[in-house]
Amino acid sequence: MENFEFNNPTKIIFGHNAEDKTGAETAKYSKKILLHYGGGSAKKSGLLDRVQSSLKKAGVEWIELGGVKPNPRLSLVYEGIELCKKNNLGMILAVGGGSVIDSAKAIAMGAVIEGDVWDFYLGKGEPESALPVGTVLTIPAAGSESSTGTVITKEEGQLKRAVNSDLIYPGFSVLNPELSFTLPAFQVACGATDIMAHLMERYFTNVTHVSFTDRLIEATMKTVITMAPRVLENSTDYDSWSELMWAGTIAHNNLLTTGRIGDWASHDIEHEISGIYDVAHGAGLAVVFPAWMKYTFKHDLNRFVQWAVRVWNVDLDINNPEAVALEGIKRMENFFHSIGLGTKLSDLKITDDRIQEMAEKCTAGDTRTVGNFVKLNRKAVNDILTLTK
Ligand code: NZQ
Ligand code: ZN
Repeated sequence: MENFEFNNPTKIIFGHNAEDKTGAETAKYSKKILLHYGGGSAKKSGLLDRVQSSLKKAGVEWIELGGVKPNPRLSLVYEGIELCKKNNLGMILAVGGGSVIDSAKAIAMGAVIEGDVWDFYLGKGEPESALPVGTVLTIPAAGSESSTGTVITKEEGQLKRAVNSDLIYPGFSVLNPELSFTLPAFQVACGATDIMAHLMERYFTNVTHVSFTDRLIEATMKTVITMAPRVLENSTDYDSWSELMWAGTIAHNNLLTTGRIGDWASHDIEHEISGIYDVAHGAGLAVVFPAWMKYTFKHDLNRFVQWAVRVWNVDLDINNPEAVALEGIKRMENFFHSIGLGTKLSDLKITDDRIQEMAEKCTAGDTRTVGNFVKLNRKAVNDILTLTK
């Protein structure tokens, strides 16, 4: 096991009517905030009204900035930064999914500097401070409600890039599983796949003696595999939503990374796909992950066999470990299909061929590798993307 420090400071407020506590929690940070949301689902469901009345009750004033798109854009981040600076706002409250939360985190970093926040996404310098962020989560998926990450797309150049910093852990996150009842089935499937991906990125590691966190990750994967079909079957199944939502947070709040080194190549590759084609992140991962696995499984066959047997209930055959591993990958693909996602680039309605361009961008022109389990150069990324055809 690797040395580690673990300190996730996000306060989680979970359960029925949890959003009623938003105002009181926000007031602990600031009485004048930016209220950030997406394309309309929070308005339509009445959630935004409820959040606003909770803010009012707590004496918090706000300025609104809606319109965050999935794969959130840098241009709106700049608008948010302007609003914060001009009006001296002290916090960003994100009401929505990963896209709204990531946009809020970007604004939080940009509002306290003179320079360009995009530089952080290019790896030019690191944030030294940020405004606090609070969240009201509406979809179990990205895990941004309790993560160090923010992923933003710069329209010019179709560049989707991430920043990770302890400074942008949300101060609090409100998780009421009922807020997910209105999700379209496609978004549920994308969310469940993203959660699975966060678990698999952590699971496939070269670090040894991590059997405790192996088991935690396996349990979380099995929870997602059980609960996602249940909420797709019955969109008001509060108990199953509760399990899925909490699993989604735990999958990405760094508890399951403790003592391990995760891979993250599939995420880096997927960000090239959603950067160019603006597809849902989870749908992109359902395409990339099987291809990445087919490319890498021989690197540590035992780990893949363990995963296939424990997570996908494949029968152990010590004489034919490759077949066991491949059966695990097949069952994972079947799971993605069963919840309505495809596993090929063509399923994302991508018909042109920009694989070479994506491999080039992903590896910065072959000047860096991606992934840790297996380090992938431009050719390897190209080969993996070719497997998605
Ligand atoms: O914009 P609205 O109208 O709210 O609609 C959203 C959006 O169209 C809709 N939605 C969300 N909650 C809903 C709802 N519709 C009805 N009822 C509800 N309760 O769902 C759509 C997708 O929302 P989005 O926020 O984009 O989804 P998600 O949470 O999957 O976030 C995806 C983004 O997160 C990034 C991804 O790359 C992608 O840009 N990620 C962020 C991470 C992080 N910060 O740690 C890690 C992840 O790996 C990921 O990369
Ligand atoms: Zn993800």
